[in-house]
Amino acid sequence: MKASTRTTYGSPDVITVKEVEKPAPKANEILVRVHATTVNRTDCGALWGKPFVFRFFIGLFKPRNSITGTDFAGVVEAVGEKITSFKPGDRVWGFDDNTLPSHAEYMAIDGKKPILKIPTGFTFEQAAASAEAAHYAYNFLNKVKLEKGSKALVNGGTGGIGSAATQLLKSMDIYVTAVCHSQYDERVRALGPDRIIHYDQGDFTQDHEKYDFVFDAVGKSSFKPCTRILKDNGIYISSELGPGAENLYLPFITSIKGGKKVIFPLPIDISKSLAYVADLAEKGKFKPLIDRTYSLDQIKEAFEYVNSGKKIGNVIIKMPT
Ligand SMILES: NC(=O)c1ccc[n+]([C@@H]2O[C@H](COP(=O)([O-])OP(=O)(O)OC[C@H]3O[C@@H](n4cnc5c(N)ncnc54)[C@H](OP(=O)(O)O)[C@@H]3O)[C@@H](O)[C@H]2O)c1
Repeated sequence: MKASTRTTYGSPDVITVKEVEKPAPKANEILVRVHATTVNRTDCGALWGKPFVFRFFIGLFKPRNSITGTDFAGVVEAVGEKITSFKPGDRVWGFDDNTLPSHAEYMAIDGKKPILKIPTGFTFEQAAASAEAAHYAYNFLNKVKLEKGSKALVNGGTGGIGSAATQLLKSMDIYVTAVCHSQYDERVRALGPDRIIHYDQGDFTQDHEKYDFVFDAVGKSSFKPCTRILKDNGIYISSELGPGAENLYLPFITSIKGGKKVIFPLPIDISKSLAYVADLAEKGKFKPLIDRTYSLDQIKEAFEYVNSGKKIGNVIIKMPT
């Protein structure tokens, strides 16, 4: 079978797409024929081995998985004798932020990893695109107490995380202002926000509205300027560490001081996030934003594009079928 492989950390130049042996599932494993996967920001972190702390989970000196990948959507080809929850022919999707050998035509995966049946009506591409960013979006939002009518601002409405967050917030009846470049107005409007601010035409931190929650889903702003648009007990969350890694210590300082707070959530429980997103998808309340589609042979280009920080939602790798 064909797979995207590497033996060392580095830029997309370390990747070789080549023929490797098709895996055989062990007793506790599921063999999946991968139909679609994505290249996402976690894949980029795993390719470069950055931040360094990530290597404690994915291989200190060299990547533990020589095949790249973190998410997949496909069809169960075979199951080991201990697997009872899936059978050949099931349409499945999943994600593991500590990497999976999913940039390949076939993948053997431990049955205990986060794997779910694909939501009804979803294509393989849509399922793969509903994993990584939606998992992070869900984990950032579920740490904040919001109720119907609360106001949230999402900076980076075009991003994988931002586009998922906008939809998750709208499904909770939250008033959402999304921030994006004016050229993407139409695509972001389709996600259902109540208002859009174009960052090329004005600074969102000067907005006249006050928000219960400011989510900087691209980490391009920071807590201090956002305090201006936060309500008295408003919450600020960024998907990045912020200047001087301030989002690591500001949660302690702001929780002691009281008032406007910073939270820096650690994304956990992938199965729970995927189940939540699948439920919304079944109800027609979540549809991932999809940007470009590449073939497996073009995966280096896909990595370069995703690493540029310019992708709109999710970048698909469509497998030969
Ligand atoms: N904390 C975590 O656990 C975790 C996990 C995964 C990812 N991340 C981080 O979260 C961030 C977002 O990831 P992602 O996959 O959602 O990113 P992404 O899809 O690459 O999103 C970047 C998007 O932001 C837009 N953008 C760039 N500058 C902007 C600005 N000043 N204001 C508004 N939008 C802007 C870009 O479009 P234009 O430039 O064309 O406007 C692009 O569409 C990344 O920095 C990533 O490293 C964190």
